[in-house]
Amino acid sequence: MARFLHLSDLHVVAEGTTSSGVLDTRSVLSSTIDHIIEMLPGLSPIDAVLVSGDISDDGTQCSYEFARVQLDRLGLPIFSVPGNHDKRSIFREVFCDFMTLPKSGSINWEAEIAGTQVIGLDTLVEGSGSGTVDENGLALLTSTLAHSNKSPTVVLMHHPPFLTGIKFMDAIGLTNIGAMTAALATENRSLIVLAGHVHGVHHCQLSGHPVVTAPSICSAFALNRQPDAFVGFFESPTGFAVLDTGAGYHWSAVPTSYFGGPHAF
Ligand SMILES: [Fe+2]
Repeated sequence: MARFLHLSDLHVVAEGTTSSGVLDTRSVLSSTIDHIIEMLPGLSPIDAVLVSGDISDDGTQCSYEFARVQLDRLGLPIFSVPGNHDKRSIFREVFCDFMTLPKSGSINWEAEIAGTQVIGLDTLVEGSGSGTVDENGLALLTSTLAHSNKSPTVVLMHHPPFLTGIKFMDAIGLTNIGAMTAALATENRSLIVLAGHVHGVHHCQLSGHPVVTAPSICSAFALNRQPDAFVGFFESPTGFAVLDTGAGYHWSAVPTSYFGGPHAF
């Protein structure tokens, strides 16, 4: 069994700037890492950190370098895929030392971590908010599933392969959910898909396999399915998650902060 921290959507900006003109995501990340380090004794042992994309908000080199310094404070291997805000070239340079990657093109990878097969799928379409698992990603997914043993498997991607009903996010969702559905249709191994992008916890199934999205490290999108719902974000609830890949999968969302306690029963 492996145990992972699942982090998503850090949206780090360049020094002296903010995300959407209001959110100091550098400070948010730094304080969240402080919080996770405090919690680690209660969560350990952790084998690796899985980050489901949108590490940077503005694609600047310094935003990636800051994110890397902060994540390295956890003292754990970091495995990640890019999100729609990421810049592939800088991401590849700063964040991919734990995975064996193609020298160019989409950043798809597979790795065995503590007996768990992990497959990272790059859904970034540069210049677009929407995402697609390209031919290379689909080929890696199907060939890895065909040729590896039947160990527990995690598929890590940014855009979730389902729609939440949040209109402004569904408009920039995964464009080939059908291809992902087909790729897993006959797969009977124990497999879970981890995603991000929607800045909140949503569960679904894909060809019978569980899919879950992590809370964002920095902000939250409200679940409001009305067509005229406000298009924007909240500063909380934020958080991360812990995944055990033992018998079945145990994925637990962990809020960044607990309020009003602790009180004895
Ligand atoms: Fe995001």
